[in-house]
Amino acid sequence: MKTIDWKNLGFGYSKADYNIRCWYRNGQWGDLEISDSENVSLHIAATTFHYGQEAFEGLKAFRGKDGKIRVFRMEENAKRMQHSAQGIMMAEVPTELFTEAVRKVVKLNLAYVPPYDSGASLYVRPLLIGTGPQIGVKPSDEYLFMVMVMPVGPYFKEGFKPTDLVIYREYDRAAPLGTGKIKVGGNYAASLVAGHRAHDEGFSAVLYLDAREKKYIDECGPANFFAIKGNTYVTPKSESILPSITNMSLRQLASDVGLKVEERRIDVEELAEFDEVGACGTAAVISPIKRVYDADKDIEYLYGNEPGKISVQLYEKLRGIQYGLEPDPYHWTEEIE
Ligand code: PLP
Ligand code: COI
Repeated sequence: MKTIDWKNLGFGYSKADYNIRCWYRNGQWGDLEISDSENVSLHIAATTFHYGQEAFEGLKAFRGKDGKIRVFRMEENAKRMQHSAQGIMMAEVPTELFTEAVRKVVKLNLAYVPPYDSGASLYVRPLLIGTGPQIGVKPSDEYLFMVMVMPVGPYFKEGFKPTDLVIYREYDRAAPLGTGKIKVGGNYAASLVAGHRAHDEGFSAVLYLDAREKKYIDECGPANFFAIKGNTYVTPKSESILPSITNMSLRQLASDVGLKVEERRIDVEELAEFDEVGACGTAAVISPIKRVYDADKDIEYLYGNEPGKISVQLYEKLRGIQYGLEPDPYHWTEEIE
């Protein structure tokens, strides 16, 4: 194993020692298999290639100050992958199989779990694909579930330093009654052009508006959106955004520290009224936003160059639970023995 520069990790692929695979054939799941290969051999007509039968998840394992390794809310990822499977007619991975695969892959790759003081973590990426051949547009009757891991640092290179978002009305990532609320690869393919342009123009991500009216805030490219307005934590309610497990956790923590929590439609013009704005997700954690630029209207919304007070408080609470520094009253973490 080569030495890893834990403190300077970005968010990117690197090879760990092992990954897990499990096949669904003849209507049932097989055993978890351990692999040390980065490759998969698939049928040329597999539905994942032709018709996008693919769903993935993202979760993290953290090494605490006490040396223990904790995984955050993996049952929620299992549930969400089941919803994704239903949404594009794939075989569902049972929760116990999903969680067992996560435990196993973390244990097999302990050397890749970053040390506590690096601020980095082990990213766990479960993946479910249709592997059986079809040329008519139909679901596969065979599936492959895999889980890989890699050590990662911050998703946005700024880490917890505020970043910039941009609004473009000429792109949608998901249709109102489409696949935005599940985690399927097609949503991310649909976001590449806008995301690439945003990076070229100096922004860390696109802030999408609702596809129907272009009036309400949906979410950021790879993360949910939240804002602080006085004593309230506000986050969009929309049929085309991914139900973020981080956001769900932040709503609970916000309410625990005495904030009012609102999940509702957010008119884009309300950006002018917020005290703090942030993106949240497993990869993004909390990424404070210092500027949202509405490129079509040439309007800039500014929130300051330092993370806001409440964003800092929520970030510390969440990280505290993930790294085992704070009590975990809702049993969100599981220790990997
Ligand atoms: N929204 C999108 C589109 C995402 O890809 C993600 C990442 O998983 C999130 C939101 C955040 O979800 P979570 O907090 O469950 O990681
Ligand atoms: C995550 O936060 O886990 C994600 O999946 C976001 C992105 C890397 C697609």
